[in-house]
Amino acid sequence: MVEIIPAILAKDEKEFRRKAESVADLCETIQIDVMDGAFVDNVTWADPKRIDLMRLPMAFEVHLMVKDPLASLDAWSVAGCQRAIVHAEAVEDVAEALRQIKLYGMEAGVSLNPETSVASVEEALAEADVVQVMGVHPGWMGQAFQPVAIEKVRTLREKFPDLVIEVDGGVAVGIARELAEAGADRLVSGSAVFNSGAPAKAIDALRADTDLE
Ligand code: DX5
Repeated sequence: MVEIIPAILAKDEKEFRRKAESVADLCETIQIDVMDGAFVDNVTWADPKRIDLMRLPMAFEVHLMVKDPLASLDAWSVAGCQRAIVHAEAVEDVAEALRQIKLYGMEAGVSLNPETSVASVEEALAEADVVQVMGVHPGWMGQAFQPVAIEKVRTLREKFPDLVIEVDGGVAVGIARELAEAGADRLVSGSAVFNSGAPAKAIDALRADTDLE
């Protein structure tokens, strides 16, 4: 069963709370988009201390689209973050970054932008709990899906049969099915869920689309 993970890209705490509440009993995990305006040209609200105080009803992972992702690992760990995903493009040594995340007691993930090859991180994947394939160039919701992500998922699945593969960016019904068929385990969705006006229906549609039985 492919897990659907709603992505929360919020400009302030009010939007964050509204989005989190709107999927509170619909998913096991949410992804918090953390953007610093330096690694990507957008900035989001994502304050670990405030989020910790919210006592969210679901687990959460952070997608660190920031210049120095290791600097915030302690704060996210203290806030109860289950999984931290850093960008291969933002760190010198991917394997070391993944080890650092695990030292803070979180599952470790690495994210690959569309232009980043599997080959470039292959060695480091032995340290990864999850690899996240970007379907868009990070920074905004609602961008068009880049089909290169499907081939990348297929390549990863062939090379690493047991690795958890997550896809983030441009996920929608139809594309979701292709990604599931290629071997994806988790799909992160922002606009398909939050711009639908009906998050429950949107998540159910993505789940049905990825049910390959
Ligand atoms: C990249 C973010 C994604 C984005 C997903 O900008 O990491 O999580 O918010 O939004 P959609 O699903 O609309 O591409």
